[in-house]
Amino acid sequence: MNTQSLPKLAHQLLSEAIHAGDVVVDATAGNGHDTLFLAANVGEVGQVFAFDIQADAIHASRERLHQHQCLQHVCLYQASHSQMTPHIPLKFHAQVKAVVFNLGYLPGGDKSIITSAETTLLALSQAARILCSGGVISLLVYPGHTGGDTEHLQIQHWLQALNPAEFTVTRHDCHVISPTTPVLYWLEKHAN
Ligand SMILES: C[S@@+](CC[C@H](N)C(=O)[O-])C[C@H]1O[C@@H](n2cnc3c(N)ncnc32)[C@H](O)[C@@H]1O
Repeated sequence: MNTQSLPKLAHQLLSEAIHAGDVVVDATAGNGHDTLFLAANVGEVGQVFAFDIQADAIHASRERLHQHQCLQHVCLYQASHSQMTPHIPLKFHAQVKAVVFNLGYLPGGDKSIITSAETTLLALSQAARILCSGGVISLLVYPGHTGGDTEHLQIQHWLQALNPAEFTVTRHDCHVISPTTPVLYWLEKHAN
């Protein structure tokens, strides 16, 4: 698996897990590629909630969704994913089929603005709670940039502390594994 293939693998796994009508969350909207993918997969009868702290990312995502006529079933928030629970209406809590994290910095943007362990872990805990039974979290981690290594370490601790009776965690690596290569974690919440 090369570096480019992990985002593709995430989409492949997601396309098997989500269906028309599902409620899903993009925790890091960025340039809107994942948000558009989610919006296309859940369709007009579904609902996407997408978060990013940067105005540029929200703008790029809105443009992309508009070009593909997918804006109407996407709520875009310029807010931290650590605020996901208060932004998502209560009626959808425990109904969310997938939460997607693609960590790091905005490609083509300011590389000093990165996801951080503190807010990522808060967001992961909220994501774990609002998932429905059988729901999934796709978590793409980039340990290669400054700060990314610390974030990855803390994520690993968080994953190790998950109750195995509640979640199955699968790790996917690149062909060549090093401390700086990206890692995809795929979490499945067990049905009650
Ligand atoms: C690798 S990019 C995401 C790529 C995106 N999923 C796409 O398809 O284009 C990571 C994004 O996380 C955003 N980010 C950083 N901290 C965040 C936070 N606390 N909450 C939400 N987004 C955050 C950055 O602004 C950046 O746009």
